[in-house]
Amino acid sequence: MGDHVIVGGVCWDESAADIRMGADPTTSTSQKAWGYELNHGSFAQFTVAAEYQCHRKPDRLTWEEAGCFLAGGSTSYRQLLGWHPHTVQPGDPVLIWGGAGGLGSMAIQITRCFGGRPIAVVSDDAKTDYCLRLGAEGVINRREFDHWGRMPDPADLDAYRAWLGGVRSFGRKIWDVLGDRRSPKIVLEHPGRDTLPTSVYVCDNGGMVVTCAGTSGYNGDLDLRFLWMFQKRLQGSHAANVRQTAAVIDLVAAGRLDPCLSEAYPFADIAEAHQRVYENRHLHGNAAVLVNAPEPGLKSL
Ligand SMILES: NC(=O)c1ccc[n+]([C@@H]2O[C@H](COP(=O)([O-])OP(=O)(O)OC[C@H]3O[C@@H](n4cnc5c(N)ncnc54)[C@H](OP(=O)(O)O)[C@@H]3O)[C@@H](O)[C@H]2O)c1
Repeated sequence: MGDHVIVGGVCWDESAADIRMGADPTTSTSQKAWGYELNHGSFAQFTVAAEYQCHRKPDRLTWEEAGCFLAGGSTSYRQLLGWHPHTVQPGDPVLIWGGAGGLGSMAIQITRCFGGRPIAVVSDDAKTDYCLRLGAEGVINRREFDHWGRMPDPADLDAYRAWLGGVRSFGRKIWDVLGDRRSPKIVLEHPGRDTLPTSVYVCDNGGMVVTCAGTSGYNGDLDLRFLWMFQKRLQGSHAANVRQTAAVIDLVAAGRLDPCLSEAYPFADIAEAHQRVYENRHLHGNAAVLVNAPEPGLKSL
């Protein structure tokens, strides 16, 4: 009672039959995204949340820092560490789309924290330094390539050959930035339609493409030959369970992960804040909106 808390963004029915039988609650048929599929009022002065959603706010964080990182941090933590045996291991190259974004900025740091070698992808050289400072071993500007979007029909030999040329040159770029002919053991996916065919191709033999979104489109193509011949795994991942959520908050509390707050908007600008994210115009990292806090920089009431 009285604790300052951060609220995890996913709920479930703790007495659901599948959870009682031992399922990870985030895979339960009762699972819902809080504030989206359930409207108990995120961005509100008062709200309703279940006890298991509430995690102690680290004292050292401001309200806006505490409010900004959990969605991307906990989701990328589960993507990178939740899918045994495809968890980040020391020395593993990990390809991270949108390296300067919400998921990406946390994923770069989590990969480093567990000894992996993060390679970040961005669309603007102005984001390169930011990713390097977070721990990326190399950064690739996706604008140097033009094979994005849906994969052509493999029966259309000319179009397919041109597409494969683009994908292979992107793969060689990964080797260049690593200084090593090694392919990513894990590919952290979320753009979806534009990048999934490339993600499946460049992923290492026996590696995993793990996706939590389809920002550019929900129709993700893949050439199945690359999946089965090289025994790769395509894994869906959504949100995070209580243990994974607590783990990422602990890492932020210990100062091992930066919450990557880039902008804190006053409540009156909430529509503009969402529009900037929607149009990919926000600078980098995570944005926050002040709801009750009268000004940025406050850590308690
Ligand atoms: N399932 C879940 O639990 C869960 C949780 C959190 C987020 N998400 C979803 O994950 C997605 C990313 O979230 P976020 O917080 O990281 O958003 P974000 O801060 O907007 O970052 C996304 C990044 O993706 C990159 N991007 C955009 N369009 C792209 C394209 N066509 N091809 C390649 N890269 C592209 C952009 O980087 P560049 O332009 O620099 O490449 C952008 O910075 C969203 O759709 C979000 O809803 C899902």
